[in-house]
Amino acid sequence: MVIVLDFGGQYSHLIARRIRELKVFCEMLPYTTPLDEIKRHHPRGIVFSGGPASVYQPGAPTVDPAIYDLGIPILGICYGMQLMTRQLGGVVTRAEHHEYGKTALEILDTHDLFCGFEPIEQCWMSHGDRVEAPPPGFTVIARTKLAPVAAMANRERRLYAVQFHPEVIHTPKGQDILRHFLYDVCGCQGRWTMGSFIEESIKEIRARVGNRRALCAISGGVDSSVAAVLVHRAIGDQLTCIFVDHGLLRQGEAGQVVRIIREQFHIPLIHVDASRRFLNRLAGVTDPEQKRKIIGEEFIRVFEEEAARLGQVDFLVQGTLYPDVVESGTATAAVIKSHHNVGGLPEDMQLELIEPLRWLFKDEVRELGKELGLPEEVLWRQPFPGPGLAVRILGEVTPEKLEIVRHADAIVTEEIRRAGLHRQIWQYFAVLPNLRSVGVMGDGRTYAYTVAVRAVHSHDGMTADWVRLPYEVLERISSRIVNEVAGVNRVVYDITSKPPATIEWE
Ligand code: XMP
Repeated sequence: MVIVLDFGGQYSHLIARRIRELKVFCEMLPYTTPLDEIKRHHPRGIVFSGGPASVYQPGAPTVDPAIYDLGIPILGICYGMQLMTRQLGGVVTRAEHHEYGKTALEILDTHDLFCGFEPIEQCWMSHGDRVEAPPPGFTVIARTKLAPVAAMANRERRLYAVQFHPEVIHTPKGQDILRHFLYDVCGCQGRWTMGSFIEESIKEIRARVGNRRALCAISGGVDSSVAAVLVHRAIGDQLTCIFVDHGLLRQGEAGQVVRIIREQFHIPLIHVDASRRFLNRLAGVTDPEQKRKIIGEEFIRVFEEEAARLGQVDFLVQGTLYPDVVESGTATAAVIKSHHNVGGLPEDMQLELIEPLRWLFKDEVRELGKELGLPEEVLWRQPFPGPGLAVRILGEVTPEKLEIVRHADAIVTEEIRRAGLHRQIWQYFAVLPNLRSVGVMGDGRTYAYTVAVRAVHSHDGMTADWVRLPYEVLERISSRIVNEVAGVNRVVYDITSKPPATIEWE
């Protein structure tokens, strides 16, 4: 395995990802990790990430210089290079002109990192400080117009560094650089696969849990399902899943969760049908934040009640993914909506967390789920908000409105799938604004609900663009909804991006 030491760079997580694409397992640790802990992982290589600081800034992130004497190969990237330079006796200065963006890189040495490269290659720069002179024992292996030392190497000590970012796509040969470092310098073999990830995780979880018990809240989504199946492989029936069905799920969803978890994977599952309880608490409530709060609180209450019945439990399994880990460490954003998800479970339950997916990206989780035998419909399920259909019904949530939005949503889903668009679109769904309008059906006047259809492209849910759905697909959706869903006489398509709108309507 390889360790990425994170100095807070905006691309740090990408480094981890690229390394794993080369089938080398890697973990990212904060730069503050003590040397002993780093050694305990027995890494074959260490990568220093970039970071926003300047090495001369008071309190700038640093590492124990003994790291250079461990005999483990190190690759410093951007800030990582400047730090290595400073600590080993080279010169770093504040550059007069910042170098930012695509830059021509002059290759001076094609021995290892740049093996097989052309004399000039493109790289992506993003730095203020620059290395003026490498530390003693290092040779300059590449430069640019503004960076006299754009890459350097001390072959004997297996220390390497690059000023640019090999991990971003704008450095077209970046992956080759990482490959040369990992395979040729560190001697990694690129044999890490999902199969080996499963094996290692199982070993680790078993060792941690011993004969104690764990609990997992299942939402039906990809992450919690994959986490549960993986942990169940490790500790069998010492795991119990709790599925709080708040009655705000999509068509067929609750049944599917039960079928897959209990019947296909034979995981002990407590299915709590709490729909009446949630609906009662939501009666008469129209404020979106109020609705979210009630659902979040009630969810925790039901969960706790069920957990208490189980007796002594020591662990809580959560499907936290790598991007969640990154975001929760940095997010200082204003509260736009108070999110509720099964990840946000009671803090005072005093359970130790098991987060087997915390190193994985979404697509890796899908791959893992496939390897574990989870069905396609779970793996490709769209993101779905914790408060469920309640935030897709504006105004009060009633059984009648739930029925309408659920049915309309099923039609949207069916038609998007039929058109083969479901894997390309981040989310597609129906919304029920609290709006009725006049229509005509047969010879009579109607006064019925409007359904809004929303489909968005997004990478992470933070921003989104509305999907230019083909007219034929929109037409089929519209005509099916007005014909098949009682109480609806009009369909509109939401053509707003995020920002200024959000993806969900509430
Ligand atoms: P918004 O509506 O804020 O949604 O643009 C961004 C993404 O988050 C999902 N979403 C939620 N997910 N709990 C969740 O787990 C929530 O309370 C919640 N609210 C919104 C939304 O579906 C979109 O993917």
